[in-house]
Amino acid sequence: MAQQEDVFKKIVAHCKEYGFVFPSSEIYDGLGAVYDYGQNGIELKNNIKRYWWDAMVKLNENIVGIDSSIFMHPTIWKASGHVDAFNDPLIDNKDSKKRYRADVLIEEQIAKYDEKIEKEVAKAAKKFGDAFDKEKFLATSVHCQEHQAKRDALHARYAKAMNDNNLEELRQIIIDEEIACPISGTKNWTDVRQFNLMFSTEMGSTADGSMKIFLRPETAQGIFVNFLNVQKTGRMKIPFGIAQIGKAFRNEIVARQFIFRMREFEQMEMQFFVRPGEELKWFEYWKKVRLNWHKALGMGDENYRYHDHDKLAHYANAATDIEFRMPFGFKEVEGIHSRTNFDLSQHQKYSGKKIQYFDPELNENYVPFVIETSIGVDRMFLSIMCGAYTEEVVGENDTRVVLKLPAVLAPVKAAIMPLVKKDGLPEKAREIINTLKYDFNVQYDEKDSIGKRYRRQDAIGTPFCITVDHQTLEDGTVTIRERDTMEQERVPVADLYSIISKKTSFSELFKKL
Ligand code: GAP
Repeated sequence: MAQQEDVFKKIVAHCKEYGFVFPSSEIYDGLGAVYDYGQNGIELKNNIKRYWWDAMVKLNENIVGIDSSIFMHPTIWKASGHVDAFNDPLIDNKDSKKRYRADVLIEEQIAKYDEKIEKEVAKAAKKFGDAFDKEKFLATSVHCQEHQAKRDALHARYAKAMNDNNLEELRQIIIDEEIACPISGTKNWTDVRQFNLMFSTEMGSTADGSMKIFLRPETAQGIFVNFLNVQKTGRMKIPFGIAQIGKAFRNEIVARQFIFRMREFEQMEMQFFVRPGEELKWFEYWKKVRLNWHKALGMGDENYRYHDHDKLAHYANAATDIEFRMPFGFKEVEGIHSRTNFDLSQHQKYSGKKIQYFDPELNENYVPFVIETSIGVDRMFLSIMCGAYTEEVVGENDTRVVLKLPAVLAPVKAAIMPLVKKDGLPEKAREIINTLKYDFNVQYDEKDSIGKRYRRQDAIGTPFCITVDHQTLEDGTVTIRERDTMEQERVPVADLYSIISKKTSFSELFKKL
């Protein structure tokens, strides 16, 4: 575990050192849980967004996109339930004065039982080798069964407390499980209180009479309130979807783990409108489609799993998360929710406008049901960085750090390097860049030895390094080095476009979906 924490620290440092992510306002000592993306980070982020947007809007005839504003009428948040119910249960440790989310403390405790079971399994697997039967071991090991029973009991108690909104019970669980503050080490806890996560601000001058408005905590509501506009102007027929990418804001109290939990972040959300009664069929459909989208990136199928929700949000009748194996455990990257017709019905009620769809096949009006897919751009970014970060031994006493990014997402697709800074090689390299730059993000690099330049490109995940040498001037060939295998090949300059394009094109990736 400590080793994994170490890896995570290295990833955070790497993100800063190589221009991916910087703490916001750093020269003023930063601003908690707010981050800026650097020159490489923004390229990776834009590629992630393109992968999502095109997979939704370009590949599906019945999904269209919008871009709604961050500021919205404040009644929207009353209607959606966020004013009354978008809360986190908080608890303070009286000695360290640190504030925690009570639900997170308990979930971490549940994860500790899971870890104990995993450790027992790993120990036994090592002892029995090929003959090891995991199912049989889990069914017969006394230790595993004890851990499992404790875990299940805690889980059931926790799920009930959350569903009943029982804050006293949450505190009692923390006391009974003897959960200690990681800072002070004591179990001296306050009561659990609810805390609303929305940021608010004033719109208009006080002379005109100002209005308290909220910074949106999710992009979804911008889609719901535009349902009629899009359905009518786009002549959309159910089932259909509306997709949006945009900023969201939450006053997270426990803001930890770098860009995993931020106060300002970006979401990619799609609301899919369906006939009442068909929502669970579509929920299963989107669960599969979304997992497949993640897996198509080739970061290892074993690094993803579903996590079905115990506590359903106030609007949902089914919900699951797609989790990715981060260095700090499997964590949610995307949520898929069956939101019933809650949001549209609420907006119908609060706005007084009829928000319905006339279904010509059924010859009836209804408020559509909704399946939502909601993924954080930043969390997706973090999962990709964590999956890609690799330290490799590449010879005696030599190591390299390489970002094994999916080539299609890499910030720079190829670096073009003259072997030396003379003899016309820089000019030839720039000539090659001029043929490639309209289609690919390419970089020119002439500083330091070729070995150092390779390492620099490995560290930002560039799939190809192309070296221009004296032979290039004679026969029009260059050396192309592949990032992961480090293999080098001599190829004609004329072939570069197709080599790079084959490996980095979105269309090849989309064909896997
Ligand atoms: N519209 C539904 C919704 O917002 P959510 O589970 O609260 O659902 C969806 O958020 C996704 O947004 C999460 O799976 C996560 O990827 C991302 N997300 C939520 N809160 C975040 C935060 N504070 N920082 C970064 N990403 C966040």
